[in-house]
Amino acid sequence: MVLNSFIRYTADSLCIDEVSIDAIIRETGTPVYIYSLKRARENYRRLRSAFARLGARVHFSLKSNGSLAILRALEEAGAGFDCVSGGEITLALEAGARGKDIVFAGVGKTRAEINYAVSKGIGWFNAENALELRYINDAAANAGVEAVRVALRLNPQVAAKTHPHMATGHGAAKFGLTADVIRMVLARQAEYPRINFAGIHLHIGSQLGDNAASLSAVDKLLDLIRPWPQIRTINLGGGLPVAYRSDETIPSLDDFVEALAPRLDGYEVLLEPGRAIVADAGVLVAEVLYVKRQAGQIFYIVDASMAEMIRPALYDAHHEIVPLNKTEGDLVNAQVAGPVCESADVLARDRRLPLLRAGDKVALLTAGAYGMAMASNYNARPRPAEVVVSESGDRWRVSRRREAVEDLCRLEL
Ligand SMILES: Cc1ncc(COP(=O)(O)O)c(C=O)c1O
Repeated sequence: MVLNSFIRYTADSLCIDEVSIDAIIRETGTPVYIYSLKRARENYRRLRSAFARLGARVHFSLKSNGSLAILRALEEAGAGFDCVSGGEITLALEAGARGKDIVFAGVGKTRAEINYAVSKGIGWFNAENALELRYINDAAANAGVEAVRVALRLNPQVAAKTHPHMATGHGAAKFGLTADVIRMVLARQAEYPRINFAGIHLHIGSQLGDNAASLSAVDKLLDLIRPWPQIRTINLGGGLPVAYRSDETIPSLDDFVEALAPRLDGYEVLLEPGRAIVADAGVLVAEVLYVKRQAGQIFYIVDASMAEMIRPALYDAHHEIVPLNKTEGDLVNAQVAGPVCESADVLARDRRLPLLRAGDKVALLTAGAYGMAMASNYNARPRPAEVVVSESGDRWRVSRRREAVEDLCRLEL
């Protein structure tokens, strides 16, 4: 199996950068998320240079991974941040970002969050509702801020080629504003004297499997803004795909940029990628608790579950699973399932895997995005620890401790 340049077997033992995962889990236990800071930064730089001819500014979408260690590493590399809640804004600021380097998106911003964002001098609001504009305008007036920059989020009514739960730009999705509403808002700009309608925003989904849908959405956006020359900034959102399967090919980034370049000439371009920066920088490591043979199947019951990694249950997502210690024996068809009391708690179905025994360890790959960020305490499971491997590639540290059972009771009154 082809892994990537940072995760590979050295002397039959799985390593992240130069560090043996076995050495890490001997100290941390399992389940544990492990991230390569080097890989996350490499991905950020790769995207920045792929989009360099558009002069695009990259805002890391921190909903995909809110680890402060990762945020700090990306901030130091020059990234801005795409936040979707007051909490995420706080994390971005904590990581060292300045308010002006943050874009604040979200379909249901509260007034408190809007006031907070205005008070922090947020760079852009991606707005999705006419009432929200009123709130932003009032927040700016109350705070004595002359003008807040807003990018209206267009719902282009384009169906993205992706899982239905990750498509956000079709007419039935709750996201964005239709072109008609945007025209109406722009025609009435004078009603929002504290708002500078200088941008337009688009995000038709995640893990986009087709550049054509994105380009068609961009064309609709350009048609829409033509009568308003003061709109000079186009935020293309996130959604850049990653290969979750070892043999998967994804749409070419270079072709995408090539097609965008003539269209976006003269505009300032913003991006909000999440998974393309962190997904393949992270793994989730688990221990096989039991091996069960039942109804002609082999089940590996591991100590990670849908509570730690919900993507397979939520999106039918595929994550490659590999043993920490490479074996040469026969492969068998197996299901990898967690301890949670749900039939959906299956991390991999019908997967070719080596014969494993209780006590063996496995790594779930491409787990750095929407893994820990979506983890829950379901079944009263304390959330796992997070480990980061340093940029030098040869040192590691626990960046977030494993939750303890006491943490589960801490907020009870
Ligand atoms: C508005 C917006 N921007 C950016 C992203 C990041 O998407 P991805 O991680 O697929 O790049 C999302 C994901 O849901 C989003 O909704």
